[in-house]
Parts: sequence; C-alpha cells; structure tokens
Amino acid sequence: MAATRRLSHTVAVIILNHPPVNALSSSVRQSLLKEFGEASKDPLVEAIVLTGANGKFSAGADIREFSTSAATASLEFINATIEGSTKPVVAAIEGVALGGGLELALSCHYRVANTQAFVGLPEVLIGILPAAGGTQRLPRLIGVPAALDMIVRGRHVPAGEAFQLGIVDEVVNSDIVDAAIQFARKVVGQSLDARRLSTKPIQPITNLGTLLDTAVEKATRQFRGAQAPLACIEAVKASVYLPFHKGIEKEQELIKSLWATGQPQALQYAFFSERNVGKWTTPSGGRWDRVPPRSFQTAGVIGLGTMGRGIVISLLKANIPVIAIEQDAKQLDLGRNAVDSLLKREFEKLKQQGKTASELGSVQFTLDFGELKHVDLIIEAVYENMKLKKEIFKKLSFIAKPDAFLCTNTSGLNIDEIASVTDRPQQVIGTHFFSPANIMRLLEVVRGCHTSLTTIATAMNLGKTLGKVAVLVGNCPLFVGNRMLGPYLEQASYLVEEGCNPEDVDQALETFGFAMGPFRMMDLAGLDVGWRSRMEKGLTGPRVPPEAPARQRNGNRYSPLADMLCELGRFGQKSGKGWYRYEKPSGRNAKPDPWMREFLEKYRRDHQIVHHPVNPQEIQERCVYALINEGFRVLEEGIASGPEDIDVIYNNGYGFPKYRGGPMYYAYTTGLSKVLGALESYYKANSDVPSMKPTFLLKKIVAVGEPSIKEWKTQLGNLNNKL
Ligand code: 3HC
Ligand code: NAI
Repeated sequence: MAATRRLSHTVAVIILNHPPVNALSSSVRQSLLKEFGEASKDPLVEAIVLTGANGKFSAGADIREFSTSAATASLEFINATIEGSTKPVVAAIEGVALGGGLELALSCHYRVANTQAFVGLPEVLIGILPAAGGTQRLPRLIGVPAALDMIVRGRHVPAGEAFQLGIVDEVVNSDIVDAAIQFARKVVGQSLDARRLSTKPIQPITNLGTLLDTAVEKATRQFRGAQAPLACIEAVKASVYLPFHKGIEKEQELIKSLWATGQPQALQYAFFSERNVGKWTTPSGGRWDRVPPRSFQTAGVIGLGTMGRGIVISLLKANIPVIAIEQDAKQLDLGRNAVDSLLKREFEKLKQQGKTASELGSVQFTLDFGELKHVDLIIEAVYENMKLKKEIFKKLSFIAKPDAFLCTNTSGLNIDEIASVTDRPQQVIGTHFFSPANIMRLLEVVRGCHTSLTTIATAMNLGKTLGKVAVLVGNCPLFVGNRMLGPYLEQASYLVEEGCNPEDVDQALETFGFAMGPFRMMDLAGLDVGWRSRMEKGLTGPRVPPEAPARQRNGNRYSPLADMLCELGRFGQKSGKGWYRYEKPSGRNAKPDPWMREFLEKYRRDHQIVHHPVNPQEIQERCVYALINEGFRVLEEGIASGPEDIDVIYNNGYGFPKYRGGPMYYAYTTGLSKVLGALESYYKANSDVPSMKPTFLLKKIVAVGEPSIKEWKTQLGNLNNKL
C-alpha cells in the first residue's frame, strides 16, 4: 500500500498502489514523495510517468482519513514539487482520476488517458472543495466557465470530452503506461514553462461578473442550503482575481469554513452509507452478499404505465433485452410511444459520448404473456391492486421458466400474499423503483418471508447493474420509505388544518432542504392514488359532521382534507388543481390558490378550530420529527437493518437534503434527547396522534447516553428483526 517505482530505460514509472481505488492516504503520499524525489535525483532518469495500479489512476484523497490529522506532506505540497520538476512528468490516466487524483495529474506537465477513463473534481459531492490546487489550476487550463461547471457539479468527465476541453493531451486505446512512456520520450528536452499551470495566465473573459453571479444564483436555487457549491464558486473566483499562491490560501480558508458547517461530515457519512447498505447480515447469520447472484440475460416488464416504461428504459440502458407486455392494444401503443420517445433521448446522450445505439438493449412489445417463457427475470408494474397482482403472478407460475425470478414493483402491498399464489415463493421479491424509474437512483428491494438469499442477491445485483443504489428492506405495509412518509404527511395536513397555508408548510420544508415540500409532492404524485387506497380500506368514511368535536377515525385524529379535495376532483397536477392550481401551457408550476384559503377558513369554522399560525421552525420540527420517529419504529420492527439504510432511502428517493445526512443522521446530530423531548411534549398534548408517541428504541438509545450512530445497531440487538 504505497507508491512503487521502476525504470523503463530513461523513464521512471511511479505507480500508486493502494487498492481498491489508490486513494491518496498519508502513507501513499509519503511514499510518492520519496519515490518522486529519488527519480528526480537519478541521473539516468530523463522523464517521469505517474500512474496507478489496479486499472485506476486515483480516486483522490482518502476520505476515511479526513477525521484523523495526518502529519504527512499535504497533497498540494506534493503537487507543487511535481510541477516544479525540471524533468517532464506525464500522468498516465486509466479508470478514474478524481478529486485529489485529478489535482495530482494537473500538477504533472502532461496527461495521457485511456479511452475508458473518467476525470473529475467531485469533492463538492462530499461537502468540500478541491483543496490541493484544483480550483486554481483547472480554470487556468480550461477557462473559468468549463472549470466552474465541472467543479460545482462534481461531474465525472469521460476521456473524449476531457481531451476536447484540453484536460488531457492524448487519448489512447492501447496500454496506458507504454503510451505515456512514448509520450514522455517525445517531450524530453522541451521547455516546461508553459506546462506549469500555476504560472499559466488565466484566459480573460468579458462577462465574468455575470457568469459568477449566475452561478451563485443557480447553485443557491439548485442545491438549496448546501454550502460546498458556493465555496467552489468562491474558490474559482479567487483563481481569477488572486495570484496562484493566494488562491491556494483561499482554498484552505474555504475548506476550513466548510468543515465548521457539519455538511462535509454528513455527506461523507452518506457516501459510506451508500456503500455499506450492500453489506448486511440476517439475524440467522445468512448473508446475501456472500451468496452469488444468479446471472440474468433477459428481462420482462408487465405494465407500461408511469413506472413500467421507466423500468424498461433502465434495463435497456444496462444493455438487457426486454419483453414488454401490456393488457390491450391501446395501452401497448401508448407504452411503445412513451418508451420510443424516452429511447430517442438516450440515443442522443450516447451520440454525444461518441457511442452508438448498440450500447442499448432491444425491446419487444407484445400482448402475449407466452413470450415471457424464456425470460430470466420478470418485473410486474401493473395497477396497485392485490387481486390483479395475484392474477398476474398465478399466470406467471405457469408461463415463466422454473428458475425465473418474479419481481413486483408494488409500492406497499404484501409481498408474501403475492408470493403465496406462485409455485416459487422463494423466487418472488419486491423491486420498488421510484418515479421516474429511469432517473431515480433508489431501488427498495423487499424481502418476503420465503425469499431466498440467492433471490435477494440477484435483486440487489439488478440494482447495481442498473446503476442504482439498492437497499434491502423487510415486508410491511408501504415498506420503509412510503411508510415513514405517512406521519410526515399527516403532520403537514394537521398544520394546514390548524392555520398554515400549504405554501407555508412547503416553504418551511424546502428551506430545511427538501427538494419539494409535502403539498407540492402530493400534487405531483396525484392525490387520487392514496384516496382510492384509503377508500378500499374504508378509511375515508362518511364526512364528519361539523358539529362533531373531533376529526377522528377509530379514535385517532384523521384529517379528511385530502379526501375532500379528491371528492371535488382536485387530484393535483394531473387535474390542474389540488393543494395548488396549475396553469397551462406547462401545467407544472404550483400557484397558491385563493380558493384554498377560503376552503380552509370554512373548514376551520365548521370544525371550530382556532386558527393559530405556526412558525417555520415548528413546521420543520413537527414534520421531520414525525418522520424520524417512524424511522425508529421501522428499526425497532427490524424492517430496515440500520439507520444508514433509512438515510440512503431518504437521500436518494425522497429528496431529503443529503447534506444533512438523512433523517436518522439528522436526528443524531440534532441530539436525540431534543427530538425525544419534542415528541414527548407533542404527544402529551395530542394523545390521539399515535405516530408521535416516542418509540421504545428512541427512548432506549437516549437512556444509554446517546451513543454514536454507528453504535445504534447494538441497541437493536434483541428487537424483533424481520430481515
Ligand atoms: N477514499 C477512501 N475510500 C474510497 C474512496 C476515497 N476517495 N473512493 C472510494 N473509496 C472506497 C469505497 O468506500 C469502497 O470501499 P469498500 O469496498 O470498503 O466499501 C471502495 O473504495 C470502492 O468504491 P466504490 O464501491 O464506490 O467503487 P466503484 O467502482 O463503484 O466507484 C469511484 C469508484 C468512482 C472512485 C467511487 O468510489 C467514488 O466516486 N469515490 C469518491 C471519489 C471522490 O469523491 N474523490 C474526492 C476525494 S476528496 C479529495 O480528493 C480532496 C482533495 O481535493 C484534496
Ligand atoms: P399506471 O396506472 O401508470 O400503469 C399501470 C399499467 O399497467 C397500465 O399501463 C395498464 O394498462 C397496465 N396493466 C394493467 N393491467 C394489466 C395486465 N393485466 N397486463 C398487462 N398490463 C396491465 O401505474 P404506475 O403508476 O406505473 O404503477 C405501477 C405499479 O408501480 C403500482 O404497483 C404502483 O403502486 C407502483 N409504483 C408507482 C409509483 C408512481 O410514482 N407511480 C412509484 C413506485 C411504485
């Protein structure tokens, strides 16, 4: 785990070797500096090639070391040393050169990349900024606009585009080290002055002020509350107005202030959580990640509505051929047209990357279920109706080959009940995609009581193949994500009953950092979906007469507002009216509706509710603490394996601000006793809202002294684990 060196005639090759991604840990930096010093001094060496082992250049600084204070040379010191070398240094980039990895490559005088390589400065995604000269060297190399775009978005740039931008000098399809050695030999003896980015003058641009202002405005709007994008802009600005060494000082100053916000810690927790959710143990010690997934070559998708069409595209993008089924010719045509138009966009994206349509799988549209008989994995995405799903799974038992996996995209129905009608409950599993399925990264994989470890491993591998983050959860009504949403939305409705307008609640939660407030979200999803399901369960019931004192169902508080809107045909965006109104031509912009104010005032009068305004902090606390409490209940019941799983679900499927780490991490950083205290006092005053009753697990963790979030799992020990 270090850097090694070999000699190829007059070229020294220094290889970073720290599996799996050659992160630039303190020991790697130390040994890189040593090898570089020796190569520089060696009179036989005319040029130096810097590369990485394991098919990767480097993924940058070792994120795990951020919490420790290493006494080794800083990466910028090494970069300055390399850049100052009088012998030409060529970076041979294979796989990835990210973050500190690219910063290291930028300090080399030349860069050669393999066609499959990616480069980027993704520090912003883990809450920091490139802090080894990246914000100062990249704008000098490719200009401010392109550098801003890369640094603020943390975009991974493919080698072809990196060549066009001028980041790499040559792209090769052959052995990267051989190519870099040849390149190095060619440039020996040439002046390096123009190759040192720290002394390169920045390309002047006329509209710099406007460009920076627009970038700040866009980042504030798009990354709502995230500090790192703004710090990145500030650092790039410094590259224009300050000399290089002052720009480096600015980088350091900015990164220090970012650490003080707590956002880097939360985002790095989120980064590792996404990787940890793949490592999981059943109570009986069974581990699906130790069981090989079954390979699958072909897939079937049943139902080409909102979800099915996105699922088809996801599979095609992973080059998996699909058989797509609908119930009648009209729906099949609709589905085909929708898939075709989404595919057109994918073709365009491929073209821009210099790739061809052969990178996509092929799709066959049919009404004949018999076509599924040779398919390896089938995903059902028909209406959310148990009777219909059971009919389909019964049919699949006869049609699908015996080893085919049967997946359902249900958003909350009982997986065991669906599996019970099949001849292979061990091969039935929930694969809960999020809308739009071709874009959203989350996949909730729902395990039934008979689902085998191989089936779980295969479904988790499906997620990976589709480029998604898959989280395994247990089987309970609405699973994890949608279940937790219940108490959160309930609080949002109560707040509106009590005196807020929908836009007040949305505004408070969007300020907290949610991508969308609850009412805009409900309008987008369609209010009718939940209404129909509540009607099926007999929950909507007769309207409570005005003179009835409590707005209750079965003794508990119940807000009928959403049902009342649906009874008036206000289903949300799809009907042009819901909690908001939507005007043509786009029909997508939520506008506060004066009608809603009158409607709510009448409702409050009818139910003798004393109007009391609620401040944004209370709105945030009531909604978010309700979400957190349900998260603890989910953990208590063993429906999620740990807080990280819940956080990954919320960060990737529900627009929770990732820079807060996820609801459970947010609870941890807020202080669990504060959350518990707030829940206790709310529940004391509102005993008809059982979702706000503090959970046993929350109380237990507070009682044992609020250990770190990593230790919560030990408190879960002997609770009722269903996974
Ligand atoms: N530091 C420490 N560990 C890292 C790491 C890093 N920079 N990058 C990846 N890892 C670890 C992962 O945690 C994982 O560990 P595990 O096997 O124990 O779970 C392992 O490497 C493999 O990672 P992935 O599972 O993510 O592998 P993929 O092949 O899917 O992705 C990758 C590879 C694209 C490199 C992805 O890991 C990635 O995006 N890494 C982070 C890159 C990044 O943010 N770099 C900037 C670091 S900060 C920096 O450089 C500061 C500088 O400006 C001074
Ligand atoms: P949808 O109503 O848009 O599409 C359902 C499709 O299934 C329709 O095209 C219909 O023609 C087809 N269909 C019905 N019966 C069929 C049959 N017998 N054979 C073949 N096709 C049939 O529904 P949507 O929204 O796509 O939902 C599908 C599933 O995904 C549901 O279980 C839903 O709960 C779940 N889901 C929905 C999400 C959403 O945001 N819409 C999010 C996540 C899951």
